[in-house]
Amino acid sequence: MSDSGRTVTRLSTTIDTTKPNEARFYDYWLGGVDNYPADRALGDEIASHIPGLRAMVRTNRAFLGRAVRYVMTELGITQFLDIGTGLPTARNVHEVAQEVDPSARIVYVDKDPLVMAHARALMGSTPQGRTAFIHADLHDPDSILTDPALIDTLDLDRPVAIMLAMVAMYLPDEADPHGIIARLLDAVPSGSSLTISHVTGDFDMRGMARAAQVGERAGKTIVPRTRAEIETLFAGTDLIEPGVVTLEDWHPELAEEPLFKAEPYAGPSWAWAGAGRKP
Ligand SMILES: C[S@@+](CC[C@H](N)C(=O)[O-])C[C@H]1O[C@@H](n2cnc3c(N)ncnc32)[C@H](O)[C@@H]1O
Repeated sequence: MSDSGRTVTRLSTTIDTTKPNEARFYDYWLGGVDNYPADRALGDEIASHIPGLRAMVRTNRAFLGRAVRYVMTELGITQFLDIGTGLPTARNVHEVAQEVDPSARIVYVDKDPLVMAHARALMGSTPQGRTAFIHADLHDPDSILTDPALIDTLDLDRPVAIMLAMVAMYLPDEADPHGIIARLLDAVPSGSSLTISHVTGDFDMRGMARAAQVGERAGKTIVPRTRAEIETLFAGTDLIEPGVVTLEDWHPELAEEPLFKAEPYAGPSWAWAGAGRKP
């Protein structure tokens, strides 16, 4: 705690390639090249309990793209706060958004120094729009909201799309995910949106529990949540139809050409997704 009582989260500024890392094993599942043997070993062990995991992460990226297009075309939002950005990959938020409106502004936030270094190097912007990068931890939303890069880039008097794609699962209940999300929503005006995708064991509790145990042993807390629990994360917003659904069922009509090779997969789903609008 600082003198002001605010929780201060220590951010790692070093990159240790001998220990598995959530951004890098996710990159591995996506078929990226920014990962090391430790990431691939843990990634394979988790995937051994979750058939279709690689298909799921691709489905999640496709959901993210549809969610960006939805909030722009249906809600008229052109500013994004993407927390838990991940290593640059196909169809990053600014690429999708600036295709719809080249003046779109995007603030990327991640706690991982490697993600930030790669993002700064690779995730440019159209001349009309802006991208900015904040090295911060979602556990401390004020550190994000008061960062000069955010204040410089986003106009908080106009609606902002808050994107929490596959990141709230790293917040255990003790970290008060509801309080963290409420703080983010407080900072943005009516008409803003909240998008969440989140892992679940609703369709195969044992497989997900085993995968979470593997993560825990490696020091990576992953909290799968039920659909009802994930719905509560949208408190303070009106859920947009069709509500919290599996990744592929959220506005499939907005799909673009798949960028990743599709893997045929017909097993259980592993994630829920949805979006809400702040009234
Ligand atoms: C599974 S990836 C998701 C990437 C992207 N949002 C997507 O859905 O494709 C999770 C990312 O969240 C980041 N992350 C995990 N916990 C975080 C936290 N407490 N604060 C900020 N970023 C976090 C990790 O470093 C990683 O890059």
